[in-house]
Amino acid sequence: MAETLSFEPPRGMRDFYPEDMAWRNRVFDAFRAAGEAAGFSPYDSCVVESYDLLARKAGEEVGEQIYHFFDKSERHIALRPEMTPTLARMVAQRQKELSFPIKWTTIAQCFRYERMTKGRKREHYQWNVDIVGEDSVLAEAEVLGAACDALRRMGLSSADFRVHVSSRRLLGEVLERSGVPTDRHAQVFLALDKRGKMPDAEIAAMLRDGGLDDALVAKVFEILSLKDLDSVVAYLGAAAEGSRAVAELSELFRLAGAAGFAESLVFDIGVIRGLSYYTGIVFECFDAKGEFRAIFGGGRYDNLLTAIGGLPMSAVGLGFGDVVVTELLKSRLGGSASSARRGVAVGFMEDAQRDAAVRLAARLRREGKSVDLALHSMKPKKFFAHAGSSMAAEAVFLGPDDVEKGTARLKNLETREESGISL
Ligand code: HAM
Repeated sequence: MAETLSFEPPRGMRDFYPEDMAWRNRVFDAFRAAGEAAGFSPYDSCVVESYDLLARKAGEEVGEQIYHFFDKSERHIALRPEMTPTLARMVAQRQKELSFPIKWTTIAQCFRYERMTKGRKREHYQWNVDIVGEDSVLAEAEVLGAACDALRRMGLSSADFRVHVSSRRLLGEVLERSGVPTDRHAQVFLALDKRGKMPDAEIAAMLRDGGLDDALVAKVFEILSLKDLDSVVAYLGAAAEGSRAVAELSELFRLAGAAGFAESLVFDIGVIRGLSYYTGIVFECFDAKGEFRAIFGGGRYDNLLTAIGGLPMSAVGLGFGDVVVTELLKSRLGGSASSARRGVAVGFMEDAQRDAAVRLAARLRREGKSVDLALHSMKPKKFFAHAGSSMAAEAVFLGPDDVEKGTARLKNLETREESGISL
């Protein structure tokens, strides 16, 4: 007896049935259009990468979630959990030839052995937009502008989402002023990134493990309660005057105003980001009601090129997954992904009309129409029921009389109006 196999895909992996592909295409089309509108050049690479490039020892979650294996020649290979190290590798390989700044974009399938929760799968597609070789905050503004544009192209409005913006440099300045030594900052960032995912008491314990005494731990939580940039400036006091981080954030909000998406940005000192390579401005986008996980996240990572052995070079970018935004679109827009009917369904009553139907379908396809040709003869009732439930906008059904006359009727499936079509 044949062994029964499960029809489910491996846990955390996804099948895309046609109705799922309609949503995915809607999301990908917006990614591509927004990338193109903002002048980003597409690039790609293989989904497997050398483990050494991706593995990081900073206690980051993503480093622990890597799917990896040895190939038959004992090469240590991994499925990429994100695209940024690969981008850095590709840039480093051609760093002497490329003309910087470069603006690159891709939709990369990524794999992470995550604990499965809402919005988190073990495989997802992630749109990446990155600018390498530019120090100006206009680079941040450009990647954020592109991401907001993509959300609008998917059918969401600025009332549906908020981009929470902070700066690792700013938090570093504030921590330093509070007496947290610089060599502890990386550990503090990793602990604070767990906020919301574990109780504050556990985070406090992590901070104490990192060498902070109770007074410093209390101060760190006080800092996190600062509500806006003005409060942070007040907290910094005279030090705010020459603060590079404050100047950068103010500049970003100003540029977002000029570009027309300032209403989508909010300052939030609680945005840390789990990846250790970020050095400056960081951001994370959430739905305005706070129902879902992060829609996209990113920031400035000026040291990654040197960390992998390239020449020093600044960089900024973001990753925007397909999972959360699709959940959000379904909840906000409902119904099916593609609204407009398009194309023609062509059917025939008897095998004697099949060649005429094939000729008609071929002609309409040459004219640029999308044609769903019935694969066997059928009764008109069945054909029109099928066409009505398909995405076709129009339908032609050929019977013996139509072929004899050399004309048939083209029916608009929405308005039910009919017009003649020559065969
Ligand atoms: P990340 O925050 O790890 O950043 O991921 C970016 C986005 O990818 C998330 O906001 C989420 O939309 C999606 N995502 C991540 N993991 C999963 C998952 N398991 N299931 C579903 N969606 C997921 C990065 O990966 C950075 N490399 C982004 C970046 C690009 N920074 C600079 N350039």
